[in-house]
Amino acid sequence: MSGPHPDRADASDALVFFGATGDLAYKQIFPALYEMVRRDGLDVPVIGVAKAGWTLEQLKGRALASLDEHGKHDPAVVEKLTSLLRYIDGDYADEATFGALRRELGKATRPLHYLAIPPALFGAVVSSLGSSGCADNARVVLEKPFGRDAASAAELNRMLQEVFPESCIFRIDHYLGKEPVQNLLFFRFGNSFLEPIWNRFHVRSVQITMAEDFGVADRGAFYDHVGAVRDVVQNHMLQVVALLAMEAPSDVNHEAQRDAKAMLLKAVRPLDARHIVRGQYAGYTSEPGVSPHSTVETFAAVRLQVDTWRWAGVPFVIRAGKHLPLTATEVVVQFNQPPQVIFEDKDVGGRNYVRFRLSPNEVIALGARAKVPGEAMVGEAVELQVHSKHPDEMPPYERLLGDAMEGDAALFARQDAVEAAWRIVDPILDDAVPVHPYEQGTWGPGEASGLVGDIGGWTDLIDEETTP
Ligand code: BG6
Repeated sequence: MSGPHPDRADASDALVFFGATGDLAYKQIFPALYEMVRRDGLDVPVIGVAKAGWTLEQLKGRALASLDEHGKHDPAVVEKLTSLLRYIDGDYADEATFGALRRELGKATRPLHYLAIPPALFGAVVSSLGSSGCADNARVVLEKPFGRDAASAAELNRMLQEVFPESCIFRIDHYLGKEPVQNLLFFRFGNSFLEPIWNRFHVRSVQITMAEDFGVADRGAFYDHVGAVRDVVQNHMLQVVALLAMEAPSDVNHEAQRDAKAMLLKAVRPLDARHIVRGQYAGYTSEPGVSPHSTVETFAAVRLQVDTWRWAGVPFVIRAGKHLPLTATEVVVQFNQPPQVIFEDKDVGGRNYVRFRLSPNEVIALGARAKVPGEAMVGEAVELQVHSKHPDEMPPYERLLGDAMEGDAALFARQDAVEAAWRIVDPILDDAVPVHPYEQGTWGPGEASGLVGDIGGWTDLIDEETTP
């Protein structure tokens, strides 16, 4: 838990997941449920809902296959989890499905409904949860994307809040459940040495790279309606910006953290066409599910301006893309150069920086120059590194589902922050600027370097998993 422990008596006493036979359930929810049984002794009915013509036995079979594939083998835990499973097969547009759910909920008084379903179905499911009584005193968890733009996000929020109070709505951005992402907040505000230099007087630029060395794989049909800006920039990347740039929350209370993040996002200037470069990898339009004429971006680079006294004039640049040279997410906060050149040190570019490697490995590093042994006063780049992956680290879905069950919303996106993030990207969505082709395995279209010409270019990422 990240805030004060909410009263466990208020914990959800049933977990319902819509989309039980789908991909997300298989890849994330079953493994997370297994860990919740193993670690926290989860002992409430777990009710899967889907329209697949399945039986409970088939759902159990699917759960077992998922657990097996994810290396979750403890027989006692597997047995306990399967004994908690229930299944309702039915159409989301049919009131009878929700009547059956209401009956299955039995005496549960604080159910949690997890909507692992396409966003187009949110409206119908939420309103039927309301009319059937399943929403009474309940919590709801939604997967991103929350809307397609500022207007549709506001509409989605309006519709959700007709049925659930904001305190019972949990919007999952799984990046917020990642340990190294939470560490951004902790490292900033759990130490005193950064604060005096964490501002426009000392920071030259902030760069965030989210690189993936794979393409859209079997998600082409989904991705082609979304693109990189909606898929990862509007949510994961802007949440990281907020954690890096926000003011200290007034206390550990989860609303205080969310207030600070929302305030920061509201201070980011909406993007315009000069501050975005879109790219599409060669071969994208031949991917299954993708339109042959698609102009959807698989790469986006943006340059943000944060209009606060702390950050005015400091560029925050983000690049995110698929089929790049490696898979890694990294933040580099570059500090100003020393004011005078005293040594003949042929360093180019960034001498001092803080680097947060968020995935696949977890590193916090301070970059500096140190003298090379010998007669000359010549320097070399050195890094002080902390590697921080813990073997029993909670994966994001386990962490977030557990928090939602207990009503702790600190690691979930709040309505105002979601709408503020859409306001930033709204002007450059879809085809507001042309999309440039790039070869697979490169760092996106060359045009992206135009966004960082004055701050020494994009920082190089190394594949730390393979580089000694
Ligand atoms: C998802 C995006 O939200 O995040 C995917 O839809 C992306 O396109 C994924 O690959 C990356 O998450 P992670 O945790 O694997 O870095």
